[in-house]
Amino acid sequence: MASDTQSVAQTERKAPRAVPASATPTAKRPAGGARWIVPAKIAVFIAAWYPLARIVLFGMTDRLGANPIEFITRSTGLWTLVFLCITLAVTPLRRLTGITALARFRRMLGLYAFFYATLHFTTYLWFDKWFDVAAILKDIGKRPFITVGFAAFMLLIALAVTSPRAMVRKLGRRWQSLHRAIYAIGGLAILHFWWMKAGKHDLILPKIYGAIMVALLGWRLIVWLRERGLKTR
Ligand code: HEM
Repeated sequence: MASDTQSVAQTERKAPRAVPASATPTAKRPAGGARWIVPAKIAVFIAAWYPLARIVLFGMTDRLGANPIEFITRSTGLWTLVFLCITLAVTPLRRLTGITALARFRRMLGLYAFFYATLHFTTYLWFDKWFDVAAILKDIGKRPFITVGFAAFMLLIALAVTSPRAMVRKLGRRWQSLHRAIYAIGGLAILHFWWMKAGKHDLILPKIYGAIMVALLGWRLIVWLRERGLKTR
């Protein structure tokens, strides 16, 4: 999961391995040399549960509003988008700051995007459609915003399933090609949000997230064009 031109696992493999314990006092540092990585990863791991904890807390204190299903669907949908944006921001941040260890957060963040997308879809499947597969298929065929949301979710499943390191090794170069689907997911997610809100004439948030996505994907396009230009020179 959490693709980019370079996989997380590959980035980690390139990082220097810990030297034998006897050699130096820094031997116990995590690969990559940054001591802050483990506590930072734990902090991110815990913080990422906030959206779900908030829903549970609101549910227990009767604060989910007049339509709790709508609240949960919208909240989980928005947090899926937030985690997608954060995942896509890792590489630009890594390249701009030179902090290579940031790449080690990408897989976890991408998996949280998948986690919230699964909650989002499950809410729709369970409480909106009551597992009525025929009604869901009809919805996917008829409502364009559902069609693109569903396509994004299918692609996310493919990335999540192939995210373990064993899969990275097994798929080799194909892994990178497959994980470029994260860009398509970003585009489809914005389209899903945009079409949903267009029907309600409320495009402020889709425009903000659309601009963030254009900046994140545009940055990659510029880097790619520049590197390609350098290679052909
Ligand atoms: C990567 C996948 C997806 C992302 C990023 C995503 C994101 C979003 C966002 C941001 C919203 C609007 C939240 C708001 O109003 O603040 C939303 C709403 C919604 N999404 Fe998704 N979604 C995804 C997949 C899906 C799938 C697979 C389905 C169902 C097949 C779905 C069904 C819905 C529904 C029913 C709503 C609420 C519509 C309403 O309240 O009128 N989404 N989604």
